[in-house]
Amino acid sequence: MRSALSAMRRAVDRTAPEQASAQGSAALARPAAVIQVQHVTKTYALGDVAVHALRGIGLTVQRGEYVAIIGASGSGKSTLMHIIGCLDLPTSGRYLLDGIDVAAMSEDELSDVRNRKIGFVFQSFNLIPRTSALQNVELPLVYGGIRSTTERQHRAERALAMVGLGDRLDHQPNELSGGQQQRVAIARALVTNPSIVLADEPTGALDSAATVELLDIFDRLHQSGRTVILITHEADVAARAHRVIRLMDGQIISDDAREGDSSGSRVPATAGKSQP
Ligand SMILES: Nc1ncnc2c1ncn2[C@@H]1O[C@H](COP(=O)(O)OP(=O)(O)O)[C@@H](O)[C@H]1O
Ligand SMILES: [Mg+2]
Repeated sequence: MRSALSAMRRAVDRTAPEQASAQGSAALARPAAVIQVQHVTKTYALGDVAVHALRGIGLTVQRGEYVAIIGASGSGKSTLMHIIGCLDLPTSGRYLLDGIDVAAMSEDELSDVRNRKIGFVFQSFNLIPRTSALQNVELPLVYGGIRSTTERQHRAERALAMVGLGDRLDHQPNELSGGQQQRVAIARALVTNPSIVLADEPTGALDSAATVELLDIFDRLHQSGRTVILITHEADVAARAHRVIRLMDGQIISDDAREGDSSGSRVPATAGKSQP
């Protein structure tokens, strides 16, 4: 399966000229775009009222970038995250993941992407109660069709060790602190070795010490080459990212690179925005 995905990725890398010509020859030196959101809108019908959650989003993320998405409550952050994570489709516009239009993917391809390519972390952890940390982390492997119990256990143990919970395998969620529960959720997101990690306000329910521990883990994920997209409304959390995108009323109002970081494409930086 992984080889099928990397074959797909190689094929996509070969078909990058369209993007290269669009961005000029400098784009050739950059890594391939992993996420391309083009003119995306999302409108929810709420009774007679149309809620315009996204109003024309354009966004390109290169492989290996560490991006924070910030904005007030209701600005469309989660809606955008759901589209990027293939949990929902745009009302109009296109979304290409590794160069492939998500709207054209079969159900099988979509579940493969959600299962293996993307790891999700949510504010509310979403762990299964009365179930051990180990079993919670094994779950994506069960869905992913890994039959061998031994392999599932070994991989779940490794993922838990990676987030510093190698000694909490048998603890159930209610026997763990909030920070530890979120680390179990991260281990669960990582156990399938996804290349993209999406996190929706992952530190929203954590105290400051647990937040720092969690951000250190995200730093390591970024250093290991993963693409990390983190939604937050906390300035100190956003400051860890290398690029900060600000949403307002369903539109991107700024897209700033952190000083000294040259990866990716974006509009000119607005002074002070990403460094509160
Ligand atoms: N399933 C839904 N049905 C109707 N409206 C929704 C739905 N999900 C989100 N919205 C609305 O879309 C807008 C953006 O929501 P959301 O993406 O959750 O924002 P954020 O994550 O930035 O707080 C809000 O006005 C919200 O009320
Ligand atoms: Mg939200």
